[in-house]
Amino acid sequence: MSSADTIPARNFPVSAQAPGKCILFGEHAVVHGCPELVLAIDLTTQVFVRGAPSSSLNSDPNAGTANPYFRVALEVAWPDGKPIEVRSITRIPRAAGLGSSGAFVSALAAALGARTGGIARSQLAQRAFEIERGAQGVGSPGDTSASVAGGYVALNGGPGEPLWTVRAPEGRWEVRRVEDPRWVWVVAYSGVPRATADAVRAVGERVRRPDGPALLAQFAEVARSGIAAVGRGDRVETAELLRRNQELLREAGVSHPRVEALLAAAAPVAEAAKITGAGAGGSIVALPKPGREAELVRTLARAGALPFAVRCESEGASLVEAPTTE
Ligand code: PMV
Repeated sequence: MSSADTIPARNFPVSAQAPGKCILFGEHAVVHGCPELVLAIDLTTQVFVRGAPSSSLNSDPNAGTANPYFRVALEVAWPDGKPIEVRSITRIPRAAGLGSSGAFVSALAAALGARTGGIARSQLAQRAFEIERGAQGVGSPGDTSASVAGGYVALNGGPGEPLWTVRAPEGRWEVRRVEDPRWVWVVAYSGVPRATADAVRAVGERVRRPDGPALLAQFAEVARSGIAAVGRGDRVETAELLRRNQELLREAGVSHPRVEALLAAAAPVAEAAKITGAGAGGSIVALPKPGREAELVRTLARAGALPFAVRCESEGASLVEAPTTE
């Protein structure tokens, strides 16, 4: 196994980082076994972990019970149980659909995996998913696999051999790498926070209606075509499929008036734009017209959003090594 496939063993103090993510195709439908395309973005979370007399997260001594992500991370990834002090810094807005929780649990599981003898990346992907699932109660491994792998990743689709398979009681998701077309994307947070779990449950109800299977089949077809279009760097086809995916998300009931206003604002400067993530608020992702990235960012800021121009982050969860001094 190459070092890229493994987080190596380290003693405390240890620091690790992991990227946030942006879903291009197939959110919600992926929970029901359909394909999804996610990219890791260059907004990251870094954690610093060391032994301490009592456990805390960002100086909060109650986080071990009050913060579900921290609580489940300790249960799943820290069998030792000795108290640890964790500090976390991030550029990813919270509850925005940009993978802040997936990045946090992936970075923390990498740091704790390092302290417990090292961990294979495939095992880290499973563990980070179990933490996020344990904390949220629902969901797919799309966010955590993108954070752990970096780059563009397809779930339940895409070319070649799987990087890994993530298992849950109700099913399994194969995760594959998709070639990076090296595009700049613009993501923008609407300012409307939402609970992923509530949106996932609402869509679960929606797809149990008689036309649910047909709706899921359309999500699957758009995501499969989208994975292929991005993989061959076809912007025109990608833009068309992003628009179709947005129509399906509206149909699934996860749009929001603020999000629709942002999509309308983006339209003149973007080849296409859609919700990214759970929706019902949250964020949009747009493929800017070439050379108009900065204009799109300004336009979305004027429309009241918090926009970021992002690139794909090719490095997944990794240790942050302190510089060595002579
Ligand atoms: O909005 P986020 O970042 O929590 O993404 C949710 C994506 C869903 O497909 C709606 C749920 C999931 O776990 O895949």
